[in-house]
Amino acid sequence: MKALLLCGGEGTRLRPFTHTQPKALLPLGHQPILFHILDTLAATTIREVIIIIGPNGKPITELLRRTNPWGFDFTFVDQPVPLGLAHTVLLARETLGNTPFLMYLGDNLLDEPLRPLVNRFVCEKPDALLLLRRVKNPRHFGIARINGQNVIQVEEKPEHAQSNLALVGVYLFSPAIHQAVQAINPSPRGELEITDAIQQLITTGKNVTYHLLSGWWKDTGTIADFLAANQYLMKKLAPGVDGEVKKSTVKGVLRIAPGSTLKNCQVLGPVTVGTGCRISGSTLGPYLAVNDGAEIVDCNLSRTLVLANAHLKGVTLTNSIIGERVQINAQQKTAAARSLLVGADAVLEL
Ligand code: TTP
Repeated sequence: MKALLLCGGEGTRLRPFTHTQPKALLPLGHQPILFHILDTLAATTIREVIIIIGPNGKPITELLRRTNPWGFDFTFVDQPVPLGLAHTVLLARETLGNTPFLMYLGDNLLDEPLRPLVNRFVCEKPDALLLLRRVKNPRHFGIARINGQNVIQVEEKPEHAQSNLALVGVYLFSPAIHQAVQAINPSPRGELEITDAIQQLITTGKNVTYHLLSGWWKDTGTIADFLAANQYLMKKLAPGVDGEVKKSTVKGVLRIAPGSTLKNCQVLGPVTVGTGCRISGSTLGPYLAVNDGAEIVDCNLSRTLVLANAHLKGVTLTNSIIGERVQINAQQKTAAARSLLVGADAVLEL
């Protein structure tokens, strides 16, 4: 089996951060979303990964050409305009050939290991195996109706949902999906919907089955979900103090990369610090992820992501995302926590 990993799309709901980086490269915990996904795929038998690249996706190609600890065989397929999930199947038609494949949306994360599902798919040979998860708000998802082991209907974000089983952004398809995507038309929002292609499989009598997910799953597409995913992943953070920690107290898990220093700080983990960071006089955590090259002085930061090369002085932040190279300078240190979403290169004097 091959994997088709979707990293196109505009990521409008994660602006301003997706103005300067593709969504898949935004960091969660100690590494980009993309690396969490590739870790999950690496635990399956899949070795060939086809990646859909959008107009802002060049950094993904460059990064994976430099870094491939998983030993994947990558192919990159350009999608100049995000015309829908099923459109990516059309674009990758030639590269996919007649091999069954696992399609993975590049902003979804899940705990459940995929290896047993890949094995089941290879064994049972259905035309599609969908991952479903019960949700409270079915109107926001692609929704499936089931009968026994069969999926009998799928609908994209239905006004009046007839089931609460949402389609998780991981699908396994036989080559029958290629005929299905060719038979569908763009939806009212102008996209070729994967739900329409799956419905086409059902209508033409193909075998569409499912697996009910019970573990954690997050579509990281909104700021709230992105921050929630960060907290969830950081709970599983492994400690590793490779940087320098001086005159500081550390409770809970701290992971600090080589070339970074922490001085006169109070750490309440989980906290992760990338390489080349200088942090002093600050209270850090819980759920703080600091990316490479950041400088932090006299701050109090919790439940926050600080992206690469940001400089912060004198701020108290919680539930915040601070973009790359942002500079924030507070004249007077205040105890009240602010929640800020600040896009790359902004300069704030508070
Ligand atoms: P979406 O969340 O539907 O779209 P998006 O990422 O562009 O975000 P927004 O709605 O905030 O603008 O996409 C799910 C995943 O699929 C995401 O990782 C991007 C990817 N994708 C493509 O690769 N090509 C596409 O045409 C679309 C629509 C999405």
